[in-house]
Amino acid sequence: MIIAPSLLAANFGSLAKETLRVHAAKADWLHLDIMDGHFVPNISFGPDVVKAIRPLTKMVFDVHLMCSRPEILLEPFAKAGADRVIIHVELGDRVDQLLWKIRSLGMKVGLSLNPPTSIRTIEPYLGKIDQILVMTVNPGFGGQPFISEMLPKIQQAATWRRERKLNYHIEVDGGINLETAVECARVGADAFVSGTALFKQRQMKRAVEKMRKMVTAAAPKR
Ligand code: DX5
Ligand code: ZN
Repeated sequence: MIIAPSLLAANFGSLAKETLRVHAAKADWLHLDIMDGHFVPNISFGPDVVKAIRPLTKMVFDVHLMCSRPEILLEPFAKAGADRVIIHVELGDRVDQLLWKIRSLGMKVGLSLNPPTSIRTIEPYLGKIDQILVMTVNPGFGGQPFISEMLPKIQQAATWRRERKLNYHIEVDGGINLETAVECARVGADAFVSGTALFKQRQMKRAVEKMRKMVTAAAPKR
C-alpha cells in the first residue's frame, strides 16, 4: 500500500524542509500537484521546484499534471527527476500520444479522471498505464471534502484489474484522511494521496504509519 503526501498542502515558504519532513516520515511517494491556472483555476509550482527538491530524497516523485498542455512539460519534468507522471483523461484524443511520450521518457504513466467523468472513459487505456488516479474532489485546491460518490469508480477499476489480470495502482486523491482512506481501501484502492490530513500532523511519521496500517488491514484479499 502506497502513502503519498501531497506537497500542495505544505508550507510553500519552506518546501525543502517540508520535503525532508515527508522523507523522514517514510512516506512511499511524494505527490506533486502541478496546476497551470487553465485546466484548473489555480497555479501551484513547476519543474524548477521539482529539480530543487530532487537531491533531498530518493522518494518516488508522483507528478500530477493538472495542465491543458502537458506535452510542453513532459521533458522538463523528466529532467527535473519525476518518476511517475499522471495526465487527465479529459484531454481526450491526445491521451494516447501523451501516454506514449511519458513512457518514452522512461517514466511510469498514470491517467486521472475528475468526479464528473465516467470510469468508462479510461477503459481503452487500462493495458497502457501503471496507475489510475481517481479524483475524490474536483481538482484545483487542497482541503476539500471527500466525494463518497466516487467509491463505485474505485470498485469498477479494481474489478477490471482483477478480471483482466492487470496490475495498475488505483490511487485516490482529494479529502483523503484515515477514515476516507479506509473506505477507499475497502473497495480496492492501493495508493493514497493525502495533503491536508497529513501535513497538519505534528508527527507526520506516526500518521503515515497509522494510515498504512489501517488501509492494509481494510484491503480486500486480492
Ligand atoms: C487537488 C490535488 C490533490 C490535493 C489533495 O487538485 O490534486 O492532490 O492536493 O489535498 P487534500 O488531501 O488536502 O485534499
Ligand atoms: Zn493530486
